[in-house]
Amino acid sequence: MGVRPGALVVVLGGCGFLGRALTRDLHHRGYRLRLITRRPDRHRDLLVLPRLELWEGDVHDEDFLRKAASGAAALVNLVGILTERVPGDFVRVHEELPARMARAGRGLRLVHVSVAGADAASASAYLRSKARGERLLRESAPDAVVVRPSVLYGPGDSFVGRFQRLLRWAPLGLPVPLAESLIAPVHVDDAACGLAAALARTGAAGHDYGFCGPEVLPLGQAVAAIARRSGRPPPWGLSAGVSLWLARLLGHWPGAPFSVDQWHTLRAGSVCPPGGPGLGDLGVTPRSFEEALKDLIPGPALTHGRPRRTEGQASRLTHP
Ligand SMILES: NC(=O)c1ccc[n+]([C@@H]2O[C@H](COP(=O)([O-])OP(=O)(O)OC[C@H]3O[C@@H](n4cnc5c(N)ncnc54)[C@H](OP(=O)(O)O)[C@@H]3O)[C@@H](O)[C@H]2O)c1
Repeated sequence: MGVRPGALVVVLGGCGFLGRALTRDLHHRGYRLRLITRRPDRHRDLLVLPRLELWEGDVHDEDFLRKAASGAAALVNLVGILTERVPGDFVRVHEELPARMARAGRGLRLVHVSVAGADAASASAYLRSKARGERLLRESAPDAVVVRPSVLYGPGDSFVGRFQRLLRWAPLGLPVPLAESLIAPVHVDDAACGLAAALARTGAAGHDYGFCGPEVLPLGQAVAAIARRSGRPPPWGLSAGVSLWLARLLGHWPGAPFSVDQWHTLRAGSVCPPGGPGLGDLGVTPRSFEEALKDLIPGPALTHGRPRRTEGQASRLTHP
């Protein structure tokens, strides 16, 4: 059965980037929400929503998870990491947690967010762990809905926002690693809308959905669109070999801004299989990346201080 407005939905990782968009969407539709976080003090702003509870707890503790799921109609898992702080984090977060979710949420509508390109045979430990997590979830909960988004963007993201910041430090154009890798950026509000539909639709049970935007484009082209909109010089692509060398270097920096595993992840690309179930099957028409950039980076787009035309350039952001 799908979950109707008024029901309680528990969201693990609900205070993150996608979680906040989903919270806004579900609350607007009339759902009650229980968000699980390790640091509720950082997310008190969300308490202005009248039908929202903020629970502090450890999602890796199965007893806690069972308690958190009590009285709920659905459990959504948005917990994910891009890099491991300590070895074993990918297994704990991406593999053990979905399995635990399946046990603790038995009988509830389960919605699990993985990633486009999840692959048990990938050279990327991130993509391997995401694929194994999907399998472990499915073994115990065949009716769970699995969602695989490509790169998410929107206000406050770590994609458009991060490249905008980096572009400011690159007066001669930003070097972009693996600029040829394909992505299909999807707006976070469209992804949230798709998740809401995955909760509500009875027929979504047991299905996997790719959440991708309408344009499949090389990373370098996406960054070029951000640069144009921000009035910065165009970026330039780094070869796979130079990018790997950079990853080896930056992987040792504090916070590892770009690691070898991320190099493997990026190299694999992040697109949805053509013709596979996606946002359209959930009644959502994802917006265009270039169009959305106009809202994200407002004001007249400038090229080196001069107003520029956008019409001609928009055509570069279409399917390759
Ligand atoms: N962002 C993207 O471009 C993108 C693309 C494809 C797939 N995804 C997937 O979509 C999901 C949501 O992504 P997002 O961008 O919203 O991520 P996010 O902003 O980093 O939020 C993820 C949340 O997970 C929780 N979390 C992280 N590490 C944890 C740990 N070790 N133990 C317990 N909780 C932990 C955090 O919650 P607290 O700090 O509040 O406890 C955090 O708010 C993830 O599964 C991600 O892999 C994201």
